[in-house]
Amino acid sequence: MTSRHDTRDTRQEIVKVSLGARSYEIRIGPGLLGDIGPALVGLGFSGKAAVVTDRAVARHYATSVVRSLKRAGFKSEPIVLPSGERTKTLRSVGVILDRLVRARFERGSVVVALGGGVVGDIAGFAASVYLRGIPYIQVPTTLVSQVDSSVGGKTGVNHPSGKNLIGAFHQPHVVLIDPDTLQTLPRREWLAGLAEVIKYGVIADERFFGYLEGQMDRIVDKAREPVMRVIARSCEIKAEVVSQDERETGLRRILNYGHTIGHALEALGRYRSLIHGEAVAIGMVQEADLARSLG
Ligand code: NAD
Ligand code: GLY
Repeated sequence: MTSRHDTRDTRQEIVKVSLGARSYEIRIGPGLLGDIGPALVGLGFSGKAAVVTDRAVARHYATSVVRSLKRAGFKSEPIVLPSGERTKTLRSVGVILDRLVRARFERGSVVVALGGGVVGDIAGFAASVYLRGIPYIQVPTTLVSQVDSSVGGKTGVNHPSGKNLIGAFHQPHVVLIDPDTLQTLPRREWLAGLAEVIKYGVIADERFFGYLEGQMDRIVDKAREPVMRVIARSCEIKAEVVSQDERETGLRRILNYGHTIGHALEALGRYRSLIHGEAVAIGMVQEADLARSLG
């Protein structure tokens, strides 16, 4: 079961992912990025914090995250990777692990994944294998990562033979979503991310699908109110599915709608021609056609 409530004194919403001892909150609110330090202290962390990010995200947000961590008493270790899908390799995981070893990270240290799904998947995987698993938190900055990849604990990297072939389930300790970060997201990434949002309407919530149809112009323009609603409802649906089937033995497969064909298209384009959401959008249309022709 999951729950969502609006906190009264802030514009923050909280969605719970219920997984027994591995349960955690998804906090959604403008300005959360600048409060990462106090949020980590509130969760009981102290000491060292690695900030894994990519170059484009670092340019916009690394300074404010590192400043917040420093003010809260953390020794931070920024690890900046090249941007884009082609970074999602075991080699990048090696770079992160080398830095954690050199900085003597311990089991009580924490990894902050600051960026899109690429950063979140790599950083989460590095955290899952370092010292057989240390905690990490997700601070997603793309629409794809805010509505999908930061939630549910799937981490990993690509293999030359295929996407996401190497990985682990490793749940974050919290997901901190600051929708203001979406203002700097390039339009192509924004539109691609909407594919994952529409996916939730198709697989789980007809009313939400109708809302998306009605509000699409405002959503495309990144109007604050519908964007908050889109993120919160998507996270609720994802949290509900993950809470029922963490390891994808059944129900969770529904989240892969459009992905079988989508992943193949991404690989065929050598991760250069189509970005993830675009490939998923094409995949959803093709898989819907296939379903119809199969009756
Ligand atoms: P991404 O992480 O490559 O980010 C897209 C681009 O946007 C990058 O160039 C990045 O530098 C830039 N960027 C990120 N945030 C920005 C911001 N706020 N302002 C300006 N630029 C910004 O791509 P993505 O679409 O976020 O994620 C796709 C990846 O996520 C794929 O590898 C996919 O397999 C994975 N994924 C994983 C899951 C999961 O459950 N783990 C779910 C869905 C997708
Ligand atoms: N994005 C698919 C999943 O998390 O299962």
